[in-house]
Amino acid sequence: MSKRIEFVEYGGPEVLRRVDGPVVEPGPGQVRIRTELIGVNPIDWKMTAGHFGDALRRPAVPGWASTGIVDAVGPRVRAFAVGDPVIAGPRGGSYREHLVVDARLVVPRPSTVSPEQAAGLPSSGVAGYSLIHHLGVTAEDTVLIHGAAGSVGAAAVQIAVACGARVIRTASPANHAYLRSIGAEPVAYGPDLIDAVQGLGDVTAVADAVGGPDPVAATTHLLPTMRRAVTVWGDRYSTAAGIPWVDHPADELERTVELAAAGRLTVRIAEILPLDDAAIAFSHSRSGHSPGKILLRP
Ligand SMILES: NC(=O)c1ccc[n+]([C@@H]2O[C@H](COP(=O)([O-])OP(=O)(O)OC[C@H]3O[C@@H](n4cnc5c(N)ncnc54)[C@H](OP(=O)(O)O)[C@@H]3O)[C@@H](O)[C@H]2O)c1
Repeated sequence: MSKRIEFVEYGGPEVLRRVDGPVVEPGPGQVRIRTELIGVNPIDWKMTAGHFGDALRRPAVPGWASTGIVDAVGPRVRAFAVGDPVIAGPRGGSYREHLVVDARLVVPRPSTVSPEQAAGLPSSGVAGYSLIHHLGVTAEDTVLIHGAAGSVGAAAVQIAVACGARVIRTASPANHAYLRSIGAEPVAYGPDLIDAVQGLGDVTAVADAVGGPDPVAATTHLLPTMRRAVTVWGDRYSTAAGIPWVDHPADELERTVELAAAGRLTVRIAEILPLDDAAIAFSHSRSGHSPGKILLRP
């Protein structure tokens, strides 16, 4: 038997339930992964709450990030064999002990990337990579990153630093020591944000890893045009301001894993909870102030 976390009705953490079912065989082009760790991302509780309309087939299993060991390979899969450590970035469905997934959404896990780091890369680390890639950041840039203490923002900071850019980032004061430790100049968000950033110099590009009205207002104030702005969460504020939603290159997971393997990207882990406590993980992630990535262990 294999356990999974699923929901039938849309709602908050209370709609999640544990279900035990048979271990499923992979079909053509699929692999089955025995899960070691699952990364929790805000998209998990947003989809469960029905933020994307009524399009999900339910019961549905949340989860966009997983790492583990391949334990079965379907027909026509050449890239993976039983026993391979891997990282998977499916679009839903990873809150499971055994994940059957299209092999094209799976990459090898390098020996220098721990399971804890690996589970934190799909979705958030990858989005951090894509934000910086979208902006085409170079060593000439001074980049402002909104929400830099979050999992997406922290990845974006490290990748911008690796590009040689100067990085200014917003976060609550409790996170400023962490931000300095990964190479960014922190400023507190709030009413004094624009003055504080201007006091540090001219910003040439902005990556918004939070969304909402305040980061958008600061971005439009600090940049002459929105050509060098991007957001991870396209909402009515960013849309009205003309700030594009981040592009996702097809190789974003591979490139992000390469950066982690090279020691240029480290995920800050907040806590590891049992998969059965997925509802607690949802509550912590929904607070919007988790001090790092939340992981689940089956
Ligand atoms: N497009 C994509 O592919 C993609 C992928 C992954 C995530 N996302 C989205 O990106 C967003 C962030 O995800 P995440 O995984 O990084 O979440 P997270 O780890 O929960 O981080 C959220 C962070 O936002 C910070 N924050 C909250 N309000 C802020 C404000 N007004 N100004 C600056 N920082 C603020 C918090 O920092 P403090 O504790 O310092 O306040 C917290 O560290 C979510 O909306 C998520 O859905 C999009």
